[in-house]
Amino acid sequence: MGKLYPILSLALAVGAMTACKPQENMKELVSKLNQEQKVLLMIGTGMELADGNVGKTKLKVPGCAGTSYAIEEHAIPAIVFADGPAGVRIDPTRENEPGKTFYATAFPVGSLLASTWDPEVAKTVGNSFGDECNAYGVDILLAPGMNIQRNPLCGRNFEYYSEDPLLSGKISSGFTQGVQAMNVGVSIKHFVANNSETNRMDVNENISERAMREIYLKGFEIAVKEGKPWTVMSSYNLLNGTYTSERKDLLETILRNEWGFDGLVMSDWYGGKDAVAQINAGNDLLMPGTSDQQDSLISALKSGRLSKETADRNLERMLGIYRKTGSWNGRVTTNIPNSTNNANVSKTAATEGMILLKNNNKVLPIASTEGNIALFGLGSYETIKGGTGSGDVHASKVIHIFEGLENAGFSLDQDLKEMNLKYNKQQHDLIPEKKGWWLPDSLIDDMQLSEEEISAISKRTTLAIYTISRTSGEFYDRKEKNDFQLKAGELELLKLLSKVYHAQNKALVVLLNIGGVIETASWKELADAILLTWQPGQEAGNAVADMLSGKANPSGKLTMTFPVNYADAYSSRNFPGKAMGKIRYLFGSLPSQETEVDYQEDIYVGYRYFETAKIPVSFPFGFGLSYTSFSYEMISADKKSDGNVQVKFKIKNTGSVAGKEVAELYVQSPKGKLSKPALELKAFQKTILLKPGEEQTIDLTVTPYQLSSFDEETHSWILEKGDYVIQVGSSLHELPLNATITNEETKVTLKTTPSLIPTANIQKLQF
Ligand code: BGC
Repeated sequence: MGKLYPILSLALAVGAMTACKPQENMKELVSKLNQEQKVLLMIGTGMELADGNVGKTKLKVPGCAGTSYAIEEHAIPAIVFADGPAGVRIDPTRENEPGKTFYATAFPVGSLLASTWDPEVAKTVGNSFGDECNAYGVDILLAPGMNIQRNPLCGRNFEYYSEDPLLSGKISSGFTQGVQAMNVGVSIKHFVANNSETNRMDVNENISERAMREIYLKGFEIAVKEGKPWTVMSSYNLLNGTYTSERKDLLETILRNEWGFDGLVMSDWYGGKDAVAQINAGNDLLMPGTSDQQDSLISALKSGRLSKETADRNLERMLGIYRKTGSWNGRVTTNIPNSTNNANVSKTAATEGMILLKNNNKVLPIASTEGNIALFGLGSYETIKGGTGSGDVHASKVIHIFEGLENAGFSLDQDLKEMNLKYNKQQHDLIPEKKGWWLPDSLIDDMQLSEEEISAISKRTTLAIYTISRTSGEFYDRKEKNDFQLKAGELELLKLLSKVYHAQNKALVVLLNIGGVIETASWKELADAILLTWQPGQEAGNAVADMLSGKANPSGKLTMTFPVNYADAYSSRNFPGKAMGKIRYLFGSLPSQETEVDYQEDIYVGYRYFETAKIPVSFPFGFGLSYTSFSYEMISADKKSDGNVQVKFKIKNTGSVAGKEVAELYVQSPKGKLSKPALELKAFQKTILLKPGEEQTIDLTVTPYQLSSFDEETHSWILEKGDYVIQVGSSLHELPLNATITNEETKVTLKTTPSLIPTANIQKLQF
């Protein structure tokens, strides 16, 4: 398997460089394939499951997520698919190559990458992913994960970018361009509305056409049109009664006909139930591939349930993508990525996306000469680099926060450090083995100390830093208690640290080493400064040290709202849905149950809801502080003859250190036939590094289509008549500039084909 015929592959490689559409030239090749070969290409080669159920063939790159069949007779090589969003996920060691290692760089998780608000950073990170894929022989990277963070508890929110589709689409596009510039394809995933993990293969999501178009599809639309991903991964869930991988209106009508996608659609791993319906719907490849799928496709081709035309069409586009890959074009697998550069990229991205949530009395930055620092919390000593499951990476190392601070010359209280290291080790030994491979990893509790002990430590230190950590991952959602909310021990420790350090006029800094939103409103007053470090990848400690020392100036902004209470999120009323019916067991042990969920909040997801319903939040969307300050001045908004609105304004660094600012442009649209959220993000831009006193003119364009809303009655995007108030500033709650544009006549900006029509009667939230 996988053997290439060099001469033919070289000829095809040259062909791949011409400007024709990927599937052109593939007709002839497909016409030469026999029925068995066609079916083999429609399914992957299977995989070695964690429970020992070994697939049909070994994976081409050990630990990758899947491989396609090679058809040697026609010089079609096996294509390699590997996760994922935070780094190239392959096995770090191989039985047959003892002594060698195959570690990959762990990059910051998706939420952090998006918090940079900088598609260029995402592009640079994407380049490094591409480099690692090439080094390890990976053709298609199963990333970016770009589902909407609909609810704070989704177990995979860390892999995803935002509660806002524009931001999600733009970051995905940047990342995609970065990876694909290295001749490695991406698979944007999970298409679409994979917004929870509980019963993810059996959950039916009832979502209105408008919410689909404006929220859940929008990010993918931007990513497809601007990023031009080679592949798309359909999701596990059912949407309005049908598996997404079996929906022709999703995979053909919307994705290909409306958006112009001309690549390959693959299923999520073991996703969907009816292989023939999937292939007919335009889900070209079934991953990782099973023999049952093979049997049903062969019978379907014989019976005509799957026509030769459909099969050939799918295969042409599949091979059109395959021929662009490294495996097809004779790339040499060196197994030596550019790790030093990639680690630097990982660290820089981490510093660009960490968010300063609070900084009273400018306690940060701190000089490394400041004195002794007392470092508390598990995450200070065992920093969580990223989440679990397919979003995890096998990195050679993680620089923990204590190591990063020491590397940067900070002096830490050594007794406290030794106590923590010893305690953590003991606690690990006590953790019982997980009862199922798919169950969450449990983090050990932070070491608790009495007031007397803290008091003694405080006398010999100048500052306390407490790191609060969380982990989560595939197969399960997070819980409100002890996860969204602080654990009792964490709260207790926070209170004691605050009391003891503040009594001596010393500061308490909290670091949030988390992958998703947690409760902050009830305790944030206890801390002087809060830095949201996210799960920052393998360079965690070094990046944190740069932030705390001021070597890097925070410029990340929240890409989701931090609510006061979990219950404030409207989706908490129905997340993760109502399970009913019989439990089935996947892979022998993972329970799954039919589940129904109505997306009652409709388009009012995240800040669109909090802002419209005027619900107070702990930290608003778009929020993030800096060690410097910025002023916003001189807005102008011009409507051009093509209807585009050009918005210009100036940002000036009014503080005393260099820094970058994210300018956010929101629009308040007129209420007309359709209700509208109070504000919606329509454009954004991060400035260059502005020196004190330096200013930059920001020039943003918003198109009539971007300003439109989706009208279900006519299945079209309409720009309603009335005033569009453009508001610009540093976060949803800090919008000093505004300008108004008037639209005289309601017009249709884009007509669509009626698709994804709900079958259930959804009780939608209305304003
Ligand atoms: C995940 C995908 C992943 C795939 C392959 C699935 O369980 O949902 O995101 O790419 O596995 O590992």
